[in-house]
Amino acid sequence: MAQLEAYQGAATIEKVASLARRRGFVYPSSDIYGGLGSSYDYGHYGVLLKQNVKNEWQRSMVQEREDIVLLDSAIILHPSVWVASGHLAGFSDPLVDCRTCKLRFRADHLAQSACGRKPSKRPGETPDCDLTEARQFNLMFETSIGPVRDEGSIAYLRPETAQGIFVNFKNVTSSLRVKPPFGIAQVGKSFRNEITPGNFLFRMREFEQMEMEFFVPPAESMRWFEYWVDARRQWYIDLGLRDTHLRVRPHDADELSHYSSGTSDLEYLFPIGWSELEGIANRGDFDLTQHAQHSGTKLEWIGHEERYVPHVIEPAAGADRAALAFLVDAYDEEEVAGEQRTVLRLHPRLAPVKVAVLPLIGKDAGLAEKARGLYEELRRLVPTEYDDSASIGKRYRRQDEIGTPWALTIDHQTLDDGTITIRDRDSLEQERISLDSAPRLVRDRLDEPWSPRA
Ligand code: GAP
Repeated sequence: MAQLEAYQGAATIEKVASLARRRGFVYPSSDIYGGLGSSYDYGHYGVLLKQNVKNEWQRSMVQEREDIVLLDSAIILHPSVWVASGHLAGFSDPLVDCRTCKLRFRADHLAQSACGRKPSKRPGETPDCDLTEARQFNLMFETSIGPVRDEGSIAYLRPETAQGIFVNFKNVTSSLRVKPPFGIAQVGKSFRNEITPGNFLFRMREFEQMEMEFFVPPAESMRWFEYWVDARRQWYIDLGLRDTHLRVRPHDADELSHYSSGTSDLEYLFPIGWSELEGIANRGDFDLTQHAQHSGTKLEWIGHEERYVPHVIEPAAGADRAALAFLVDAYDEEEVAGEQRTVLRLHPRLAPVKVAVLPLIGKDAGLAEKARGLYEELRRLVPTEYDDSASIGKRYRRQDEIGTPWALTIDHQTLDDGTITIRDRDSLEQERISLDSAPRLVRDRLDEPWSPRA
């Protein structure tokens, strides 16, 4: 608890959401119509940040390995997929309605929910509360296929990307050079009709997942489960999350999903407390066996002298939730020379813009010409921004707030001796370097290890 209080000194969900909106990372969706519960639109910098998160995931899962291939399956799959997977019967939350305030609550979240009547109490706390018995409410969004809407046309927006992978197991094993242990990775949108959404990007109804199903010989499943828990934890640390803000929490037997014989959550110390960032599950042979039974297609590995149904280890992450964790971990406020500074200390590989080029005096034609020349050279190499508006102090603050690691300033000395200053977002140190060396220096610094503040 003390850890949470100390941590909340800097970041709160509200402060991060406010910065995200003000600086063009994330806007409430359908804003001009009053917003749509728990839906968000990503602005320019948010698109770049989330893209970087997904790229880093793909880099570590696919590019830097030889045993994982990619897939991009459809969002609307054959409805039988969700019967076989167990989602139609079991992907539900227990809900209660209040006949007095007409609100609906998750039966297992009553202690954290606010009653609709003021002064705000917990549902069921006052004698006026009139709660129904809990009923199961399926989280899948329904849609229909074709021109006639009837029983037979019902389809679902996928609530996870994983099932698209399982139903393509045969396609992948018969078309690509794979052999267990191997994985299939997919990044894409998933949809859940969450009843108690909230906390900004943490729980949304439409969100992006980054999931990988790793197919292994059954006897090796425990070893791979442990391997992926460690590997996924390390991925977040390598990208700058403080390891004191990350922990692994094995699920108790009564929490396990219907498909899982073992799950560990990677939890992050969000400002709302320790919460799931990613789940790593040992799904055993549940999914391949279910789809084989329901589809009538054998889903097994056939080697030279062996034939078996592989077991599956699944690291399942959320791109939006990861982006939120990186944002809150990076968010910092400090006083510099008597002024308040807000800064996003994002890992340079995640930062939406890597370097800003700033002529000291925007209206000075000589400085502007030099600065634009450098900007045009740099932007071919890395995401770069040119800014000649407002005072240099304001421009630095703007770049700090979007997390740009380096700012290059062109001043009158540049015209004399060809040097510029490079300002470091985190240390605030300014160094004079030659203008010609700037592109190489920025590239080198991007490759250097980076660690968050202590
Ligand atoms: N295939 C397994 C699966 O979907 P999950 O724990 O339900 O497991 C995996 O989801 C990850 O997807 C979560 O750890 C979280 O990062 C993200 N996620 C799930 N529901 C979400 C939601 N409503 N909004 C944002 N991210 C969500």
